[in-house]
Amino acid sequence: MLKKMYFFLLVFGVVYAHDDVCQNDFQEHIVYWDKQAHNLEWFVPWHTTVTWQAPDAQWFLGGKINASYNCLDRHIKEGLSEKPALICRSEYGKDEIYTYGKLYEEVCKFALGLKKIGVKKGEFVALYMPMVAEAVVALLACARIGAPHMVIFGGIGSDGIYDRLKESKARYIITVDGTKRRGRVLTHKATIDKALSVGNNCVEKVIIVNKLGLSLSLNESRDIWYRDLLIHDAYACDPEWMDAEDLLFMLYTSGSTGKPKGILHSTGGYLVGVYTTFAMAFDIKSDDIFWSTSDIGWITGHSYAVYAPLLYGITTVLYDGAPDYPDKDCFWKLIEDYKITLFYTAPTAIRMFIKWGNEHIEKHDISSLRLLGSVGETINPEVWKWYDTVIGGGRCPIIDTWFQTETGCFVIAPIPGVTTLKPGSATRPLPGYDVAILDEQGNEVDKGFLAIKGPFPSMLRGIFGDYDRYKKTYWSKWDGRYYYTGDEAIRDANGYIWINGRLDDVLKISGHRIGCAEVENVVVEHPAVAEAVAVGIDDAIKGTELVVFVVLKEHTYTKDIENIIKYKVSSGIGVYARPLHVIVVDQFPKNHSGKIMRRLLRDLIAGKPLGDLTTLENPYVLDIIKECYDRVNVRGIETIDFPLFI
Ligand code: WTA
Repeated sequence: MLKKMYFFLLVFGVVYAHDDVCQNDFQEHIVYWDKQAHNLEWFVPWHTTVTWQAPDAQWFLGGKINASYNCLDRHIKEGLSEKPALICRSEYGKDEIYTYGKLYEEVCKFALGLKKIGVKKGEFVALYMPMVAEAVVALLACARIGAPHMVIFGGIGSDGIYDRLKESKARYIITVDGTKRRGRVLTHKATIDKALSVGNNCVEKVIIVNKLGLSLSLNESRDIWYRDLLIHDAYACDPEWMDAEDLLFMLYTSGSTGKPKGILHSTGGYLVGVYTTFAMAFDIKSDDIFWSTSDIGWITGHSYAVYAPLLYGITTVLYDGAPDYPDKDCFWKLIEDYKITLFYTAPTAIRMFIKWGNEHIEKHDISSLRLLGSVGETINPEVWKWYDTVIGGGRCPIIDTWFQTETGCFVIAPIPGVTTLKPGSATRPLPGYDVAILDEQGNEVDKGFLAIKGPFPSMLRGIFGDYDRYKKTYWSKWDGRYYYTGDEAIRDANGYIWINGRLDDVLKISGHRIGCAEVENVVVEHPAVAEAVAVGIDDAIKGTELVVFVVLKEHTYTKDIENIIKYKVSSGIGVYARPLHVIVVDQFPKNHSGKIMRRLLRDLIAGKPLGDLTTLENPYVLDIIKECYDRVNVRGIETIDFPLFI
């Protein structure tokens, strides 16, 4: 009996002690974030730093804050009205500079305009815009009046817009007449019209920024010009006092199931996370000029092209155009023209610059750069070294930042001057995070699932309209103790983290996140298609290319079915998801219970060993599929015709 009791005490003593240790780490993190939150200006301070009942976190409870106030009014009060907030360059038109004073005025005027047409606190306002100043104005105006913004990436087609508008029930959408890529006109407003023509949406007003002067067919009762909406006579618009947990925005991203997820971010926790990690990883100085090439339609664009630099009161650069138009040196010219100090881009872009050759860079003096960032996928050591030598001149730290739409801001990144860099590793977690590499059971291992012991301030607060999916996707694997990232990682002997990539069927194509199931769903909507499988294949520049295999219904083959399906994916998801190849096959490899063995398709085209085939019902199809693939897989053309970065 005594022995039994001793055993009981020992086991529970250990468990208790272990929890105690974790509890201490957690307490330290809370103290850390609490301290960081004081860097922002709150109308009312919080009374409780965090409450955590997995999977639900609430940060800075009782606190009242406004994002637009912290990005604008705060700096104006400090006398920064004349300081440039935005430098905007496009393929068309002249450069525009918005000082903090001008941005503040425009945001107030637009916020009042939004109120006038009936936008209410707490309701979603959709944006479908390129990287133009008015997009920043729109984000901040929404934030000012407490209407969460929902940006739809400008490369998404009308079907994707339709789905997002239908789900969010947004009554307002802000767009442009169009923009240009390599001189070609992209017609945003016409795409919105197409999405709305399907019906089944709640859109009452479409607000249009006139960028190109296109002649549009306007719907008198629905369409309004942005300029006409600005309230000119009274430009002070008091910021709403938002609860820290009120939504700041929703942003859709892809997951492993067919339906994109509307990721929800709160106001207080998100702002604290973004501000803190920006300052930490990029060692921000007040006179920095920061350029993130990321599009506003993705999380990097939200967090680090807009919110972080403006919260910090520095100058941020927006570029609306292709990186090779009018010439392949246009990025370096922009850096030279404005003496940009911090440059932040994705490995896919860097690989493209390498391919284009150093001569485009050598034409310009880019010695103003003092730090370089990378995001979106693993940067391989060779590419890292080129970035360091050719762009950084050997003097700029390379800051490889790991994060996700769901984390809102950096989780793993070096601290310049503190962390010794290793090419190819995002190095270590930033302060405030407890990052672990776990096996299925939740044991710490050297190689396994990348996980974060929750909660942290900027973490997503949910998936719009699907609480169960939120709980199941991110918090169920280890019973609510850890956040599941979907990535695989290795921790080396020095504690450095190396990201191996996604473990689910989510691809990164030129830095864009795309779910295989999402593509398959769109493809099988075509009446000729019986079954579809989308897989990724390595590409030297894009990182991954999309290959779609289809089995057609009987007697439905037509000569250009492959192109029709490619077009269907481009319009259903977006141009960035256009498959490299569509391959028609007779059957898929299936196991005895009829399940498609997609792993085999992926390994087959990658030329990898196929491993154990004993469960395969129809092994004879493999050679036939490989033949079909080899016939189609004739490259040699430029694969990137529309590069858009994360
Ligand atoms: C990948 C982009 C390696 C990762 C910010 C993650 C990275 C997914 C890195 C999120 C990095 C992001 N090194 N992989 N520095 N940064 N990833 O939501 O697979 O578009 O899960 O956010 O990008 O993609 P998302």
